[in-house]
Amino acid sequence: MISDLLSMEDLDTAAITTVLDTAEGFSDIALRPIKKVPVLRGRTVCNLFYEDSTRTRISFELAAKRLSADVLNFSAKGSSVSKGESLKDTALTLQAMGVDAIVIRHSASGAPQQLTRWVDAKVLNAGDGWHQHPTQALLDLFTIRRRLGRIEGLNVAVCGDVYHSRVARSLVQGLLTMGAQVTLVGPPTLMPACVETWGTAVSHDIDAVLPKTDVLYLLRVQRERMAQQFFPSSREYARIWGVDRHRVATLPEDAIVMHPGPMNRGVEITADVADGANSLIADQVTNGIAVRMSCLYLMLGGDA
Ligand code: NCD
Repeated sequence: MISDLLSMEDLDTAAITTVLDTAEGFSDIALRPIKKVPVLRGRTVCNLFYEDSTRTRISFELAAKRLSADVLNFSAKGSSVSKGESLKDTALTLQAMGVDAIVIRHSASGAPQQLTRWVDAKVLNAGDGWHQHPTQALLDLFTIRRRLGRIEGLNVAVCGDVYHSRVARSLVQGLLTMGAQVTLVGPPTLMPACVETWGTAVSHDIDAVLPKTDVLYLLRVQRERMAQQFFPSSREYARIWGVDRHRVATLPEDAIVMHPGPMNRGVEITADVADGANSLIADQVTNGIAVRMSCLYLMLGGDA
């Protein structure tokens, strides 16, 4: 059904709904004593990670294994990449070995797209530069729909470092496709340049936005991507933009708090909020496996 999964831009309402519905079916597998189904037996999935990752890599690995695929884990550290091998040569090597799908994370925006030109394998983007992270958006949509029963018509506030965030770019596209209203919240220095083209509202006053918010989605302050000083200090950021229990108390009663991880506890979110009753952060991680199973199945399932 899906050929390559590069960007949320490529998925319309029907395609997103199919991924989420298929993931519902797979989510029960995690509750069984034997957490495996044979649908991708004999298929090979390679995780090609040029950038550090904890949950995305493990989640893709578990997803492929629970579908009975064979999994290869390639990380740039410890491979011939450290001897200067190019992405193209690595891709051609994997092509020659006959892998069926490549899950790629790369610091260069557009690397997954480029990969599709060199290999016959299906390509899944697991995060490219500041550009896209489609499976994160899909697992977030799944988590919202599961808890609140719908996505359409919800008010979603995406707060923090939008400028450096591939998660924000993918999630906002997915939310708008599914009919939610989105407000980007954060300091002007962390808003992207052409933010008016995003189709969202923008606010620089988090306290004004919270009482009207159904889903509060916090972004990590991405220090590793910051070449300059975007705000005075972490303490200052936490005071003006950080979400603590006083701010959470101003949300409507059923509102949920989400974060893609890794979190900077004490900066964009306090520990009590991260672990609190409104937080779906652990659910996001759990749901990520079912959603990635769904993507792999929809891309590789069926006849070989
Ligand atoms: C994000 C990423 O790497 O894009 N994390 C993730 O995949 N769960 C977000 C981040 O690094 O802040």
